[in-house]
Amino acid sequence: MTIESAQGSSLPADENTLPLTATSQIIGRNTEWWRSAVIYQIYPRSFADSDGDGIGDLAGIAQRLPSLAKLGIDAIWLSPFFTSPQNDAGYDVADYCDVDPLFGTLDDFDRLEKEAHRLGLRVIVDLVPNHTSTDHKWFTEALEAGPGSPERARYLFRDGQGANGEFPPNNWQSVFGGAAWSRTTNPDGRPGQWYLHLFDSSQPDLDWTNPWVHEQFREILRFWLRRGVDGFRVDVAHGLVKAAGLPDFFAPAVEEGASTASMSQPVDVPYWAQPGVHEIYRDWHRVLEEFEGDRVLCAEAWVEPLSKLANWVRPDEMQQAFNFSYLETPWSGPEIRAIVDESIAAFGSVGAPSTWVLSNHDVIRHASRLGMNPPPPQGSGIGPKSEHRPDEAVGLRRARAASLMMLALPGSGYVYQGEELGLPEVIDLPDKARQDPTFFRHHGEKYGRDGCRVPIPWESDAPGYGFSPTGESWLPQPTDWQDYARDSQDGVPGSTLELYTLALRTRASYNLGLGTLEWVDGYGDDVVAFTNGDVTVLANTGTIAVELPLGEILAASEDITEAALPGDTTVWMLRRD
Ligand code: NOJ
Repeated sequence: MTIESAQGSSLPADENTLPLTATSQIIGRNTEWWRSAVIYQIYPRSFADSDGDGIGDLAGIAQRLPSLAKLGIDAIWLSPFFTSPQNDAGYDVADYCDVDPLFGTLDDFDRLEKEAHRLGLRVIVDLVPNHTSTDHKWFTEALEAGPGSPERARYLFRDGQGANGEFPPNNWQSVFGGAAWSRTTNPDGRPGQWYLHLFDSSQPDLDWTNPWVHEQFREILRFWLRRGVDGFRVDVAHGLVKAAGLPDFFAPAVEEGASTASMSQPVDVPYWAQPGVHEIYRDWHRVLEEFEGDRVLCAEAWVEPLSKLANWVRPDEMQQAFNFSYLETPWSGPEIRAIVDESIAAFGSVGAPSTWVLSNHDVIRHASRLGMNPPPPQGSGIGPKSEHRPDEAVGLRRARAASLMMLALPGSGYVYQGEELGLPEVIDLPDKARQDPTFFRHHGEKYGRDGCRVPIPWESDAPGYGFSPTGESWLPQPTDWQDYARDSQDGVPGSTLELYTLALRTRASYNLGLGTLEWVDGYGDDVVAFTNGDVTVLANTGTIAVELPLGEILAASEDITEAALPGDTTVWMLRRD
């Protein structure tokens, strides 16, 4: 007997009966669950605040989990909640094995994990291995120990260039803007060595040529695996290893129309996608295998083309990698068909499921992004003085159509908190409220990512829309979000929340995540038309309505009143051959 995997490769049945953990006993014998799972990203600062300080926390998440179970997702991924000075919203970790008091305690985490498992939801946590916070004791010890010490060898400290070491060791630029090097000050007050930080100056890069670093992270993985987590989303999984000698980088001119995403360039960059990263993930794969159950690693790797990204998900490395090429694909029939084909071929070539994602905490929410043509490059954001603003109505309509199409694709899908409510990007945040280091390191010329991180609305009439009992919110919420609130949409036919709920339920009952995609011809270039098992999916990315085939409609992103599929609309129909 064989079982069809997401991309059609066959797995022997006995590989599907691995030992069970407490978690999988609760959740059921659904091994390799990640091949088809829909994973919901929780950004803890902005999900639900239980203590009223205006910053979301773990107890708040635990209280709201039943809503997510009702939505029909399979797993949650929690962005960082670890000890951190919060210079990059927690992606600057000062202690990997503790919870920041802002978010609660380890006991709160245990309670949250237990509640998630009770509800049948897997739990994935974020691992940030490329850099620590400058507040991490590894770094403060390195500063104290001085040049040439084993402590300094944990990070990438180098002498500067120039007669007095006054120039940085090389020309690398930070993803957040400015030089990727900062200079230290010696105890006598004189300038000292420089350290590398591909992101903010408060995020020093670790040196992954040092075996000590490897040992620390094995133990960090084990710490959370022992606590029962189902996996890790791995931050900057293409950046850990740098080219030997840290050579200067001379970027080729970016061709017009080519991707300008700051973290993904299809050229050889000495700090991205170096072959040495793969040995690290093989090692971590073995660490995960020390534990019972089906634990996973998901790569946040901005790597193009997808055939190269597939190396991150070879059978002995990670299980999943985010498909950012899909996220960056415009709302266009031919381009969507091409990227779906490319994704299924690339991930399928190594036996991995494709993932699909449209939004996260680093990009303009797709309900706004799809209403802009073209959208600004990743990381730039939009703000009060941006030249172009999204057409919100077009954006939401396309977002609903795009999400409905995405959730019909075989493989695993990611949903970012609030997209199930149709939330748009918040554009009119005042400068003084902004917190993303991108905004400051670009001296306000790039707005950055705060607009997709605004705390989400739960109750239309409550202070702070029910995000926080006091109405406090670390980023100001718009005054017109009543209709987006979960309670305004719950049970309301046609709402975005009901659309996602129906899509997730239908996806599960037709087993679309483990299905096989076949293109359907005859609807013209603008219509993305395919079957997945018993379901026919038609997504009209154009403006001209097309005739619908006869048959039962299972889900539609807009009201279908005639036998025609309007523009910017997706429909799922029961297949009739
Ligand atoms: C990717 C994370 O998603 C982003 O939010 C963070 O700023 C960078 N990595 C640096 O950790």
